[in-house]
Amino acid sequence: MLELASGFSLVDLYPSSRLLRLISTGLDEAKRCHERLHRFLDQIIEQKRQREATFGDGISEDFLSVLLRIHDEDTEQISLDINSVKSIISDLFSGGSETAATTVEWAMAELMRNPKVMKEAQSEVRELLRGCTSVTDSDLVRLNYLHLVIKETLRLHPPAPLLLPRQCRETCHVLGYDIPKGATVLVNVWALGRDPKYWEDPEEFKPERFATSNVDFRGTDFQFLPFGSGRRMCPGMSFGLANVELALTTLLYHFDWKLPGNVKPEDVDMSEAPGLPVRKKTPLLLHAVRHEPDSV
Ligand code: HEM
Repeated sequence: MLELASGFSLVDLYPSSRLLRLISTGLDEAKRCHERLHRFLDQIIEQKRQREATFGDGISEDFLSVLLRIHDEDTEQISLDINSVKSIISDLFSGGSETAATTVEWAMAELMRNPKVMKEAQSEVRELLRGCTSVTDSDLVRLNYLHLVIKETLRLHPPAPLLLPRQCRETCHVLGYDIPKGATVLVNVWALGRDPKYWEDPEEFKPERFATSNVDFRGTDFQFLPFGSGRRMCPGMSFGLANVELALTTLLYHFDWKLPGNVKPEDVDMSEAPGLPVRKKTPLLLHAVRHEPDSV
């Protein structure tokens, strides 16, 4: 689904062409994929219904149960048809899994290329969690440097570099260009995050830059929009960040990381593969060496 949604399609370039719509294989494939996904979600919903019928109040409510309850209640204030329930679930999975996973991979790649930053991030994590056997989410709020590392990773490697496409609602004039009503508008946040007008040494990985600046990714600093901005801004920002923080903290706390063979930090390949999210073109290969929690 993600490949189809982010791949190149001629129909996107000539949206009014019926002929292209007819001959485009991508649309058929997208339809098949959509149907398969909905059949799969039907099964999940069916299983949930059966479990609830069998165990009644004995099982705790999860996100799907809440959506199904709202669907069943069907009040005047809120009504949610079953297709909307399935679409919300699929949106959450497609929006939430790869984005966070990609961010962790880019962060690890940047840490391997910048051993000093790795050392500082690792010292912070190990100092803070000294003696703990595992990392829990309540530990995360106490981290400071690691948050800067994640911010800097998202500046250089926003998983959705063009955000989600917008449609222009009114004909308007921006920076000398006429944008007709109905045009698809893409916002290049990747370029904004590397624009020398706003960032010193924009291509360098320097988490410290955020220590003394108020620039944040909450959608109001337009040079830094890894979660987008406005009404369609990412609704899963806090959850996504918590996932990234938890994974990175665990990796840094429990393991020392080494590059294989003769690979030097500066040789780590940082090229990007096209698609959504933008992943590393070559997977990051590292040796993990177990670190005993008490031997800080
Ligand atoms: C590091 C993690 C994440 C990043 C960088 C990220 C980034 C983004 C971006 C850039 C957008 C488009 C915003 C726009 O066009 O203005 C978006 C939309 C969205 N994200 Fe995330 N996201 C992350 C995690 C998550 C998680 C964990 C979830 C849910 C579990 C999620 C759910 C969504 C949904 C449903 C949308 C579509 C919102 C809409 O169209 O109204 N995201 N995300």
